[in-house]
Amino acid sequence: MTLTEEILELKQKRNAVILAHYYQEPAIQEIADFVGDSLELARQAAGTDADTIVFCGVHFMAETAKIVNPSKTVLLPDINAGCSLADACLPGDFAAFRKANPDHYVVSYINCSAAIKAQSDLICTSSNAVHLVNQIPKDRPILFAPDKNLGRWVAEQTGRELTLWNGSCQVHEAFSEEALMELWTANPGCEVIAHPECEEALLRLADFVGSTSALLRRVQESKAETFIVLTEPGIIHKMLQVAPNKVFLDVPGRDGCNCNSCPWMKLNTLEKVRNCLRDLTPEIKLDEELRLKALQPLERMLALS
Ligand code: 13P
Ligand code: SF4
Repeated sequence: MTLTEEILELKQKRNAVILAHYYQEPAIQEIADFVGDSLELARQAAGTDADTIVFCGVHFMAETAKIVNPSKTVLLPDINAGCSLADACLPGDFAAFRKANPDHYVVSYINCSAAIKAQSDLICTSSNAVHLVNQIPKDRPILFAPDKNLGRWVAEQTGRELTLWNGSCQVHEAFSEEALMELWTANPGCEVIAHPECEEALLRLADFVGSTSALLRRVQESKAETFIVLTEPGIIHKMLQVAPNKVFLDVPGRDGCNCNSCPWMKLNTLEKVRNCLRDLTPEIKLDEELRLKALQPLERMLALS
């Protein structure tokens, strides 16, 4: 049996659904039941009637699935698939940040742990952050965590002043501006599209900024034929499926490294998907009190977006 056949057989045996983020390697996207951005994946996890969710993404995404659908067995093929953004926002430091800004409404990007979600009023993703912040009463000051780049972009889009937690994504901060300029010069008429986790200087050079799903819509709707893609290059697999006649160029990291690829997302492999379905581990487990606290701002997000 091939690995894929084994996975399909085990998936049936476990009555499992495989959810994958756009940054997963193509082979995983191909065997997944659903591929999406973090908001779409949270919705899929909340609504599934499968017994087991195999979450091919990073830890905070699988944890979110468990928070919104606790009766399911949620498996993360590699338990070390973290996120530099989520892992650098620690609950004690975050509590101090809130304490220093006591009257603020706390909006946290979904890229954070359950312990941070539990201390937040509202969760957002990059696809609904502008829409959600626009719904907060104008006289209420807002704290935004943990991504300062997304926060700055949301502040610009909404005209709201946001007090930002000083965090960022290691991957989206790695793109080389010099390499971007070279690609741009070599491809007249191309369009630069970027995820809002990129640094301000790069976002200023972009023709279009949006979440992973928004970028996918853009490449289908735009008249441009060549796109310079300022986000994790895993998404190019889906871009080629939805716009097969267009050209997508990823941007290397500084010093020509391939650090534009998220090393945590790429920890998941087909073999580990097979193993987790076979052994029902690594499983996401959560303290029930913490889960209930983290659920409230997530439910608010799902209701408002
Ligand atoms: P999306 O919400 O656009 O899927 O982004 C998730 C993420 O981790 C980006 O780095
Ligand atoms: Fe986290 Fe950045 Fe990887 Fe997204 S790309 S999972 S924000 S480290």
